[in-house]
Amino acid sequence: MEIKKVGVVGAGTMGNGIAQVFAAAGYDVLMRDIKDEFVARGLSTIKKNLERMVSRNKMAAEAKDAALANIHTTTELAPFADRDLIVEAALEEVSLKLQLFRELDGIAKPEAILATNTSSISVTKIAAATKRPGQVIGMHFFNPVPVMQLVEIVRALQTKEEVVATIEATGKKIGKTPHVVKDSFGFVVNRVLIPMVNEAVNCLYEGLTQPEDIDAVMKLGANHPMGPLALADLIGLDIILNVMETLYQGFEDPKYRPSPLLKQMVDAGYLGRKTGRGFFDYQSA
Ligand code: 3HC
Repeated sequence: MEIKKVGVVGAGTMGNGIAQVFAAAGYDVLMRDIKDEFVARGLSTIKKNLERMVSRNKMAAEAKDAALANIHTTTELAPFADRDLIVEAALEEVSLKLQLFRELDGIAKPEAILATNTSSISVTKIAAATKRPGQVIGMHFFNPVPVMQLVEIVRALQTKEEVVATIEATGKKIGKTPHVVKDSFGFVVNRVLIPMVNEAVNCLYEGLTQPEDIDAVMKLGANHPMGPLALADLIGLDIILNVMETLYQGFEDPKYRPSPLLKQMVDAGYLGRKTGRGFFDYQSA
């Protein structure tokens, strides 16, 4: 099956990044969020990102205009009826995702593929909420989506082989490097990466040193492009906690216990860049 029309559910950090990469690759994209202001914010982020690429000679002005012309927006789900592929990038809540997939299943054409960008929820469970479980798959992008090369393709227990092949080919067409993994708690990247971030939070909690120093030693000593606490702020502390809880409960293994400080930060609403404060302050930036 050839994918031409793509729907993206969610215009937040991940959703607008996903919409941008599909639109830049020539796909007709419909981006949806629940409020006009969320859609407008997502679109304005895409414009800024594309303009930055033009100003740095990474994209021609005509290509930017063409990409923007490929993006349409809505606050409804009904217009997704003509989409070949729908990528869901809504909030990371199980009940919300299951409800969304039930609705999308009722709206989307029978041959359409439904993908989720979930960072840790079982794709097998999401697939089981639909009447087309063989056409449900994980398409896990990484933040910042326009920059990060990987798409982790998550094969649910029910996903059909031809659907995996279609999504792998589509991942390549949008300029990414896809890798297929089986559905499991945290898949591969988050299972390895997020406990490392959680451990950095524990180092801070135990008072080993200051946030700046934790990040500095990991950049200098492990050659990471950014420190784990700055990365936590980029990803969102609520998402980090979510992934840790999924690993902790899923594997029933204490090694995945979320850091008490991480829980406190989330309780305080210090979620990282998106709220202006996390382990670092972004309000004055
Ligand atoms: N959106 C679009 N482009 C961005 C961007 C953003 N938010 N942030 C940076 N960029 C672009 C810049 O414009 C720049 O482009 P250029 O080369 O054309 O000038 C390029 O990325 C490099 O940016 P900078 O020079 O400003 O800074 P760095 O070289 O430090 O790179 C970084 C920034 C790409 C964010 C780098 O620090 C990095 O790779 N960090 C690690 C990110 C990471 O690990 N992400 C995965 C998170 S896990 C996840 O998302 C999964 C989820 O389920 C939790």
